[in-house]
Amino acid sequence: MDFDELIDRRNTHCNKWDDMERLFGVSPDTGIAMWVADMDFRPPAAVQNALLKMLDHGVYGYFGNETPYREAIAWWMQARHGWTVDTSDIFTTHGLVNATGLAVTAYTQPGDGVVLFTPVYHAFARTIRAAGRAVVECPLVNNAGRYEFDFAAYDAQMTGAEKMVILCSPHNPGGRVWTREELQGVADFARRHDLILVSDEIHHDLVMPGHTHIPMTKIDGIADRLVMMTAATKTFNIAGAHIGNVIISDPALKKRFADLMMGLGISPNSFGLHMVTAAYSPEGAAWVDALNLYLDGNRRLLEEGLSAIPGVQAMALESTYLSWVDFAGTGMSEDEVKRRIVTEAGVAANYGPTFGKGGETFMRFNFATPRARVQDAVNRISAAFADLQ
Ligand SMILES: Cc1ncc(COP(=O)(O)O)c(C=O)c1O
Repeated sequence: MDFDELIDRRNTHCNKWDDMERLFGVSPDTGIAMWVADMDFRPPAAVQNALLKMLDHGVYGYFGNETPYREAIAWWMQARHGWTVDTSDIFTTHGLVNATGLAVTAYTQPGDGVVLFTPVYHAFARTIRAAGRAVVECPLVNNAGRYEFDFAAYDAQMTGAEKMVILCSPHNPGGRVWTREELQGVADFARRHDLILVSDEIHHDLVMPGHTHIPMTKIDGIADRLVMMTAATKTFNIAGAHIGNVIISDPALKKRFADLMMGLGISPNSFGLHMVTAAYSPEGAAWVDALNLYLDGNRRLLEEGLSAIPGVQAMALESTYLSWVDFAGTGMSEDEVKRRIVTEAGVAANYGPTFGKGGETFMRFNFATPRARVQDAVNRISAAFADLQ
């Protein structure tokens, strides 16, 4: 578990570093990649060993008997989240963007509205629009650097054309770990407006010390309209395996999802199944505990470093490794902020507006990288705004 090791990811078909020059104009030789949400760390040895075992055997035929995989998921959810999963409720998709698209297709019709609490993970809106459904943006309230819901405003916004709401829990990009009361509020909102609730909990293991994630499945009165989405890919940095889980207990919702999966012929690849089974283990759990402590150190370094720049405020993150930083107080235009961070400092970070309404003055920084690199990024960005000091 050497999170300080600087691993060169260049020329490995790695989206984060190898596409940086094309997308941001920042060279991977001199710049720092702090955008797409994967980590610059190797997964725990258990995952590497599972792959080595496959490679050693060397025959890559169809995968059979998913029982150990499903049992590993059930073990993890019980041990880490106090959530009892019936293994027959698990569907395995090609990741959670795929799962989002499947849920939108299974439970809504073209033209229907899908509610998002924005700003939020950009692929939701992309997927909804590509499926010919309408994105209904319900803006979160930024209450002194902390996102909160405003259900009265959202109630007034509903027209009856909305059929689904997608919640990001914990929240990307604001880093909130929603409280039980807030989750109950979302569930009540979904019921009031007869919406299917999709809860994307991909970040649920990456929670900062002092905070506890509550799975939506533990909230009262929602099971009959709830679609849970989880994955091991963010937690263990195995996003290239493209594997995620949709967990549905309501029989009618389950059947619709099962029929769609069957109709499209979706079944997971063997590499992902082996990796996730190995990751969801006591060894994997110890690795995640160590990872979260390391990430928390990086979080503090980045939040304190960037918030020391006059007019810049990082949201106090409770989860994820994605720092959401507001540059509104600098009074600078979006282009000028980008120019300083991306072009001058050579730091490739996500642009706030891509996350929807409310993201206009923000940038999102991925700090899941060795601490020395986070320090380097803080130094470079501070220098790029030195005239404000
Ligand atoms: C909330 C959320 N959902 C889904 C994903 C991506 O999921 P996948 O790689 O399984 O498609 C991300 C990646 O950042 C995310 O933040």
